[in-house]
Amino acid sequence: MRGLRMTSFAGHRLARLLFASTARHTSMLIASSMSGHPTPEENEMSGLVRICLQAELPAAGEVREFVAGGRPFCVANVDGTIAVLNGVCPHEEGPLGEGIIEEGRVVCPWHGYAFDPRTGESEQDPECKAQVFESVVEEGELRAKI
Ligand code: FES
Repeated sequence: MRGLRMTSFAGHRLARLLFASTARHTSMLIASSMSGHPTPEENEMSGLVRICLQAELPAAGEVREFVAGGRPFCVANVDGTIAVLNGVCPHEEGPLGEGIIEEGRVVCPWHGYAFDPRTGESEQDPECKAQVFESVVEEGELRAKI
């Protein structure tokens, strides 16, 4: 429950909770190898990039920033569902991975834009949309299709 009610942004957020579908992502992203699991080479070929270790995932209700392939990613845990967003906020390039989760949305620490972790849409500006990547947790790693 940490992080769900910790800021002053709560007053103007919608209460709806929209989450990424881990199961849908899993079925779309997993590449097969002879062992039944993708090798690092297969992951690279399929566009999957390792974001972090499963053990490093943020706790429920928290957001963390990870750098992979030289670029930042925002990893959000919304009630146990992991979402991977571009770590650069589409508003004015704030550090989205240093934000918080509030009412099911990832809130940027700079100006408080709140992004749906499934669609990237913001309440503040329909044209300001965060990039959301399909992701999967497998083999002890969080991987995203970049
Ligand atoms: S830079 Fe993220 S809300 Fe402005």
